[in-house]
Amino acid sequence: MRSDRPVLVLIHGFPQDHTLWTAQTHAFTGVADVLTPDLRGFGMPVEVPTIMPMEAYASDIKDLLDAHGAKQAVLCGLSMGGYVAMAFAEAWPEMLSGLILCNTRSTTDTDEGKAGRQATAQRALDQGTAVIARAMLPNLLSARTRATRPDVVNRVERMMEGQPANGVAAASLGMASRPDRTHVLRGMRVPSLIITGSADTLMPLPTSEAMRDAIPGGRLVVIPDAAHLPNIEAPERFNAVVGDFLRSISRPHA
Ligand code: MLT
Repeated sequence: MRSDRPVLVLIHGFPQDHTLWTAQTHAFTGVADVLTPDLRGFGMPVEVPTIMPMEAYASDIKDLLDAHGAKQAVLCGLSMGGYVAMAFAEAWPEMLSGLILCNTRSTTDTDEGKAGRQATAQRALDQGTAVIARAMLPNLLSARTRATRPDVVNRVERMMEGQPANGVAAASLGMASRPDRTHVLRGMRVPSLIITGSADTLMPLPTSEAMRDAIPGGRLVVIPDAAHLPNIEAPERFNAVVGDFLRSISRPHA
């Protein structure tokens, strides 16, 4: 880690891994110390508990920062990665120098949503993650991306179907048990940015507007023609927004 530039932790969503962030890693390696962890149970197969609460992933991020000697970082979490970033912000607010929440929400699931998580977990274990990937894909990418960019569609599908079933199931159950963290947003004392895609149906715009309104001085950027994965669908625009944010925040403590 270099003490003269920010540490940027990019936290992937469900059911993804660090390769979600390839375009951002390339864009920001020159200006920040970029960490792109695989959340426990994603990427390489490992043993995981039956349920992985968001707090456990957040604790893994804390361990990662400690291992790198980083006292502060900008956390950027997408969707489930946002749930993890908010859990981190609640537990270790003094370690945050900035927060970017992409295509996520601070509220809990409905009962119906929780039941859906249980079903997804069971389906991952019984039928494998390719089934989950195929079911999710139409909701992740905009109609335009799906119609015109088969390379992007294939890349996202391959990434998701390659995730270990036990990790996917544990994450799904962990998301179902997460608490409301809107109060964490209300208490934010560092620069915070919400990003979403104009075509995101999983996290509709009012969800992002509510998070922006909860955060003192919160900002929202809506990326046109992108859905749930704007960093992949519109990487240049996404990177410009995140780059501006990084430049706008003060230098973190070493
Ligand atoms: C994700 O992209 O991480 C998921 O859509 C999050 C969720 O299912 O709530």
